[in-house]
Amino acid sequence: MKDRLEAIYRESREAVQKISNLKALEEIRVQILGRKGRLTALLHGLKDLPSEKRAAAGQAANEVKHQLLQLIEERVIKLKNSGWASDQEGSIDPTLPGRPPEMGRLHILNRTLREIEEIFTAMGFAVVEGPEVETDYYNFESMNFPTEHPARDMHDTFFISDKILLRTHTSPVQMRLMEEQSPPIRAIMPGKTYRVDDDATHSAMFHQVEGLLVDREVSFAELKEVLALFIHRIFGEKARLRFRPSFFPFTEPSAEVDMTCVKCAGRGCSLCKGTGWMEILGAGMVHPGVLRAGRIDPEAYTGFAFGMGVERIAMLKYGIDNIRYFFENDLRFLEQF
Ligand code: PHE
Repeated sequence: MKDRLEAIYRESREAVQKISNLKALEEIRVQILGRKGRLTALLHGLKDLPSEKRAAAGQAANEVKHQLLQLIEERVIKLKNSGWASDQEGSIDPTLPGRPPEMGRLHILNRTLREIEEIFTAMGFAVVEGPEVETDYYNFESMNFPTEHPARDMHDTFFISDKILLRTHTSPVQMRLMEEQSPPIRAIMPGKTYRVDDDATHSAMFHQVEGLLVDREVSFAELKEVLALFIHRIFGEKARLRFRPSFFPFTEPSAEVDMTCVKCAGRGCSLCKGTGWMEILGAGMVHPGVLRAGRIDPEAYTGFAFGMGVERIAMLKYGIDNIRYFFENDLRFLEQF
């Protein structure tokens, strides 16, 4: 009897001292002093003892019960004061791992745009912006698309009125810049552009980055070098470039620039439709008529220009197959980057 009492006391005291929350402490109390508790059972068993031993044993057992209750009570006070009662509402358990704060981030298109800007500013290009609501003059006329010219059909335009429209490309900013500045001019012009268009790779609003460099004796070779440098920075040194003759009213000669496929590196796959190449931007030497409209003498100066789609660059770089992902604001998509 005495041994069992001592064992209960010792073990219970250890258990109580180890406990660090109130709920677990209550469980321990029930295990010892509850209706089916160890000490309760022992107290019940007293009646089976011979009567001469019963009184002393009862006193000892009650003494232990009293001491244990006191230990539990002290523990409760200690836990409450230390704020460790982690199962209690409003309490803090400093042993739990912290919760990291939610961090915002740049949208993947802004990230891509900043990357493009960094590459060109490192080459000495300024960053210039122009209006999204444009006049027919800047968007088309001055850029060498005469009224009724079939080249206007390349741009499905949102017209606001006869002469006012949402710009279909960032090229009108070239004209605004040439009117304002005399050569040398070296700038990129990022911004939103609009076309009546909507499928997996086209959206009615999209972003372009225009480039313009005008100075004495600027040649196509320099255009090639600048674009090769850009593509290597953004897609890696292994990417190769190819210039295909093309047509834009505001450049002559004009080229469409292809890059080796990001997926198969030129071997041919479903992404590049077996060709090994993907179109990445348009470029050319600034048309003399455009320079003249910008009050720059084409006899004294030459220049090159280029224009690229930011969504397209991001889609190729990150393997995104639908342009709509950029604009749906689904965090599951955006948080990947
Ligand atoms: N503005 C052209 C387009 O949107 C791209 C371009 C810009 C081509 C500059 C040549 C030079 O398709």
